[in-house]
Amino acid sequence: MEFFEAVEARRSIRKFTSDPVPAEVVERALDAAILAPNSSNTQTWNFYWVRSAEKKAELVKACFGQAAARTAQELVVFVADPALWKRSQQPLVEFVEKVNAPKAVIFYYKKLIPMTYRAGFLNLWGYFRALTLWFSGLLRPVPRGPNTLRDLQEVAIKSSALAAENFVLAMAAQGFSTCMMEGFDEVRVKKLLKLSGTARVTMVVGMGKGTEAGTWGPRFRIPREWVIHHV
Ligand SMILES: Cc1cc2nc3c(=O)[nH]c(=O)nc-3n(C[C@H](O)[C@H](O)[C@H](O)COP(=O)(O)O)c2cc1C
Repeated sequence: MEFFEAVEARRSIRKFTSDPVPAEVVERALDAAILAPNSSNTQTWNFYWVRSAEKKAELVKACFGQAAARTAQELVVFVADPALWKRSQQPLVEFVEKVNAPKAVIFYYKKLIPMTYRAGFLNLWGYFRALTLWFSGLLRPVPRGPNTLRDLQEVAIKSSALAAENFVLAMAAQGFSTCMMEGFDEVRVKKLLKLSGTARVTMVVGMGKGTEAGTWGPRFRIPREWVIHHV
């Protein structure tokens, strides 16, 4: 399916048929998720394809039993965790050295990433950094964040949300429907997946073959001129 066809075909579908989704379809969409742009290429994400019937039932419960989860043939949870910068730092340093990236890029991965992805105890390191940058910012443009653990989580959430979008478009391109969900009890989902304290659950995605009853009606968007501004 051509790109714009997939973009237009994708709708949030909340009721799926009992037809199974072939594993290779989900795997291909997960591969597309991995290719999403992400902050500094740190790939601070994990994707949990919940396949065990027992865990699936628990996840549906944590999603308040909503139809998009209850009738989904498969469920994938998109997770963001800023602490995962440590997982990719060494491979990234090795990679940028191998491809002879500019010195500034190597310095960025070796030195700046560890400084940036750190908030410190009670965010104290982050507040100190924010204060010094505030003074520098009086004279020139400076990065204003991320400073706190929340800020770092926000950065990671942006990237994993982009991965989720790649995922749903890849499912649409393969003829399957999806529904992104933020309607879930994050504490319960984190417990179910045994996630670390710094992790955030970005999205649960339900998928399957869609039904007509799966949408409330035709797609609705507010007028484009309310949203798109030529400055
Ligand atoms: C971040 C996010 C969270 C969402 N959470 C839910 C949800 O919990 N339950 C649900 O039925 N739909 C959920 N949706 C789907 C939206 O309601 C849907 O995208 C929107 O109504 C636009 O419709 P469309 O996707 O068919 O274009 C969510 C979508 C996004 C992007």
